[in-house]
Parts: sequence; structure tokens; C-alpha cells
Amino acid sequence: MKLKPRLSAIAGLVPEGDTVADIGTDHAYIPVFLVKSGKVKRGVASDVRKGPLEKAREVIKRHRLEDRIETRLGDGLEVLKAGEADTIVVAGMGGVLIRNLFEAGKEALEGVKRLVLQPMNAQEVVREWLVKNGFEIVDETLARERERIYQVIAAQPGHQQTEDPFYYEIGRVLIEKNHPLLPDLLSSKEKEYKKIIAGLKISGKAGAAERLKEYERRLARLQGVMEACRMRAT
Ligand SMILES: C[S@@+](CC[C@H](N)C(=O)[O-])C[C@H]1O[C@@H](n2cnc3c(N)ncnc32)[C@H](O)[C@@H]1O
Repeated sequence: MKLKPRLSAIAGLVPEGDTVADIGTDHAYIPVFLVKSGKVKRGVASDVRKGPLEKAREVIKRHRLEDRIETRLGDGLEVLKAGEADTIVVAGMGGVLIRNLFEAGKEALEGVKRLVLQPMNAQEVVREWLVKNGFEIVDETLARERERIYQVIAAQPGHQQTEDPFYYEIGRVLIEKNHPLLPDLLSSKEKEYKKIIAGLKISGKAGAAERLKEYERRLARLQGVMEACRMRAT
């Protein structure tokens, strides 16, 4: 079974273990791949909607893994008991939704050894939640499919100093490991900031001037990291 780069990057950050729970599984490709490859023994594949869960069941059946991967219908972490999964994966959802699912399901996080998260946006919300809720960001990676860069974050229970907010936006680990796709991520962030700045410059809304200053600061910081990357590359 061959995974596309995004799913492969997610699977790559799941350590060997007993049970992986994939929350919002849709097609169940992640638990199927992990169980088939022998990286984990069992899987729980959950989704809040019946349609995707049906799709997951079909894929699991096709791979003859019904006895190793259990499907569960439910909202977020409510499908899990504390300590049931070594690794919890939540991928392909917005960062705010991921944060809300964790906030609502804190009990199910007790005893978990690793979280592997792939927020589609608002990655800063996820990183901040992790750091402020007893998790340490231990690894990060990036994957590209067509023009889009995906960010994958791995965390485990532990203490991490509250980060400089800049590193909630661009993961510190990505900068430290000088990930090969980091320049692409930085340029897409640069475009995003420039667009926000252009909008704020013509906005008449209260607070726009403050936000403009904040985004100009962020842009300058980002461009500093871009320059450091370019220097490292030469
Ligand atoms: C875009 S798909 C991502 C599927 C897969 N995780 C991936 O990364 O390819 C998002 C899935 O999350 C499910 N989902 C959305 N909100 C959820 C929630 N509160 N609890 C569980 N699943 C949810 C959706 O039904 C959908 O199947």
C-alpha cells in the first residue's frame, strides 16, 4: 500500500506501538497502512459521520484487517477511553476544530504517548494548545502535494517552555532541522502576511492599525528566517 506524501508524512511520525487511534479517519488509510506495515498492532478508526465510517469499513475489509482495526462512530475523542491508544492521530481537519476536540476530550488524552496532528490551517492554535496543556512538540515535518505544503506535528506528554508566539506559527523544530520544504512554507506564509497587510492598510475597522503593526512585525521576523535559510543554502 503506497500513501501519498501527506499521509506518508503523518504515518512517518507514528512510532512503533500497540494501538493507534485515527480520529476523523474517513478512508482509514492511516491505520490500515500502519497495521499492515507492522508498525502498530491494532487500530481504532473513528469518524463523526456514517458515510466516511462506511468507507473506512470497506477499506479495512478489503485489506482483511477487520480483526485488527475497530471502527467507531462518534465525535472527536469521545470514542476513546483513557490509555486505550498509544498514539492518537488527528489529520485533515482545521486547527481550531482539532484544538476544540482536545479541549472537550482531555480525559481521553490521559496515558497517551504521542499525538500526531496535521491541521489544514491555524497550525498556531494547535501548537499553542499543546504547549499550554502539558505536551511537548518533539518533531515536525512537511509534505507537499501539488502546490500545497502540509504541516505535521508530533507531540508527547511533557513540559515545554511557553513559546515565543512566532514559533507557534512556524514550528521551531522545522527551523532547527532546516526541513527541505521550509523555504516553500515560509514563502507561502510571506504571501499570506502580505495579503493581510494589504487588506489592513485599506481597512477602516477599529483595531486595524494595531493589527497592521503586528503583521508587519511578523513579516519582518519571517523574512529574517527566510534570509537565514538562504544563507544556510549557499
Ligand atoms: C478531510 S477528512 C480527513 C480524513 C483523514 N484524516 C485524512 O487526513 O486524510 C476529515 C474527516 O474528519 C471527520 N470529522 C469532522 N469532524 C469530526 C469530529 N468532530 N469527530 C470525528 N471526526 C470528524 C469528517 O467526517 C471527515 O471524514
